[in-house]
Amino acid sequence: MDGPDAWTGLFISFEGGDGAGKTTQIKRLADILRAEGREVVLTREPGGSDGAEAIRKLILEGDADRWSPLAEALLMYAAREDHLERTILPALHRGAVVISDRFADSTMAYQGLAGSLGEETVAALYKLVVGDRGPDITIILDIPVEEGLKRAGGRADKEQRFESKGAAYQEAVRQAFLEIARREPERCLVVDASGGEDAVAARLREAVEARLPGLFSV
Ligand code: TYD
Repeated sequence: MDGPDAWTGLFISFEGGDGAGKTTQIKRLADILRAEGREVVLTREPGGSDGAEAIRKLILEGDADRWSPLAEALLMYAAREDHLERTILPALHRGAVVISDRFADSTMAYQGLAGSLGEETVAALYKLVVGDRGPDITIILDIPVEEGLKRAGGRADKEQRFESKGAAYQEAVRQAFLEIARREPERCLVVDASGGEDAVAARLREAVEARLPGLFSV
């Protein structure tokens, strides 16, 4: 048996559209928890283990239509299986806090609900690979698409396959995350990610504290 009952750590995932500021907010949360003496493992998807990082390159580089929707989702889930087995679960069993920059909700949002694959297929992959080994809590950073794209616009790297898919798709992704949060309110926490970094960090801390009393001792 695995799953939240079997581990002593805490599994937190962060989700949100491009430019929501996940990376910055994750670092800030990790710093706070480390300052309190917790072991924090920061990781990301697609990626987070050697095998999954190799798959990440296949997924994120190249033309927008490089993969069929199903092939793309299978690659995401192949990477996720490796990530869970090699990085996430060992850390949770040690008692660490694992913070993952994206996890399975991204596949449901990008490929399932906003993409053409459909939610049943993605749900079947989730059941096969993740099952009861999913996050204890998921923080969805929510930001209007235009504001997010402006923030993400400054980035010039090779990993542009998803950013190149356009504003209508990004809007569908935003709505998909909000829908996931409505369906699973016990796990998901939606945090308004617009405005300055400090304001978002304060909102986030308040929301997490309300959900997980005792996580922050100071
Ligand atoms: P990344 O460069 O990590 O962007 P971000 O900072 O926005 O997280 O790229 C990840 C991209 O891959 C992002 O556009 C979302 C997409 N993605 C999916 O489409 N499905 C998935 O299951 C995952 C994990 C990511």
